[in-house]
Amino acid sequence: MPADFEAMWTELAPIGRDASTGGYFRQPWTPAEGELRAWFAEAARARDLSLEEDAFGNVVAWWESASSSPAVLTGSHLDSVLDGGAYDGPLGVASAFAAIDRLRERGFTPERRLGVAAFAEEEGSRFGRACLGSRLAVGATTWTDARELTDRAGVRLGDVVAGADSPSPLLRGVGTYLELHIEQGRALIDRGAPVGVATGIWPHGRYRFDLGGRADHAGTTRMADRADPMLTFSATALAAAQAAAEQGQRATFGRVEVRPNGTNAVPSQVTAWLDARADSPEALAELVGEIEAQAAARAAGDGTSVAMTAESVSGAVDFDPALASRLSRLLGGAPLLPTQAGHDAGILQEAGIASAMLFVRNPTGISHSPAETAPTADCLAGVDALADCLAELTGAAS
Ligand code: GLV
Ligand code: MN
Ligand code: MN
Repeated sequence: MPADFEAMWTELAPIGRDASTGGYFRQPWTPAEGELRAWFAEAARARDLSLEEDAFGNVVAWWESASSSPAVLTGSHLDSVLDGGAYDGPLGVASAFAAIDRLRERGFTPERRLGVAAFAEEEGSRFGRACLGSRLAVGATTWTDARELTDRAGVRLGDVVAGADSPSPLLRGVGTYLELHIEQGRALIDRGAPVGVATGIWPHGRYRFDLGGRADHAGTTRMADRADPMLTFSATALAAAQAAAEQGQRATFGRVEVRPNGTNAVPSQVTAWLDARADSPEALAELVGEIEAQAAARAAGDGTSVAMTAESVSGAVDFDPALASRLSRLLGGAPLLPTQAGHDAGILQEAGIASAMLFVRNPTGISHSPAETAPTADCLAGVDALADCLAELTGAAS
């Protein structure tokens, strides 16, 4: 097991990478993600950390301590979006192991348990629920609700992971969670800083639009005689982009399924997923309400039907403000910034575990894309910052 960050990164690089796009397909409970889990177990073993896994597929590698003081957890997730970047998730996990190496090189011993976590299905790319592993771990989602979720091939979550009716024992006794993550925008570039500290997460959600129409012949059916849900969808996607731009918020249709998906037939059904994010819960409700209303108005004119279902909604998160400013001060005045992206740290914060995040500068701001990147020097600055913060949080005075 290579000991330093760069060697770990080289080892992770080929796992789940698509040769044609250079992007990553690291969906949970697939062979690629299994390789990452094996890598995690080996990284823990090589460092004499004890490995604990819960019934939801979340894992923690513990640096044990005799102290019964509240434990500190760091880490992130190993899964990716479809055709995602290398950094979103694994950067936080590899940096956590590298930070432990740094602390040991310094001769540091934590005064409390320190764990490296990898939460399952953070992206919701397979079963559709964002931060599914951490939600199940804290009991924000119950196993009864989750186990019938299916992936695109119809595989049930309950058939790929054991599950349990109670929250995860992994988080018992955890007082603080600190997640390092690649920044997914350009705020740190603009501020000229390699590392920043998160203040909060915008509320956001995923909403499924089921648009029904009537299958018909693409040649013989006059345009006026059609009930085409593709037109309703197209108009709704344009309306969503316009509403979000006007309101200063975000709306994206990134996934669409068409039935029967034939070239020479008017489709009978379009299912599309809206990802909407806003700077307040009220603004999110206004944005989604506007898009739903515009879809309904368009459907009435098209002779189609529309039904919207909220599939995964996350409220606004304010990270522990005292913890955020303490870490920012410790890091010499690292910038404090909000984010529009969801994270397991937000789920833990809402469950009452004081949580914080460190962001590592992203030179392009691009994320959820094969083009996502971060310079090695900034990743190493992130490891040092994480080691400093963990020393502070697990030290005697904490
Ligand atoms: C997580 O990456 C998100 O979609 O916000
Ligand atoms: Mn992500
Ligand atoms: Mn992430």
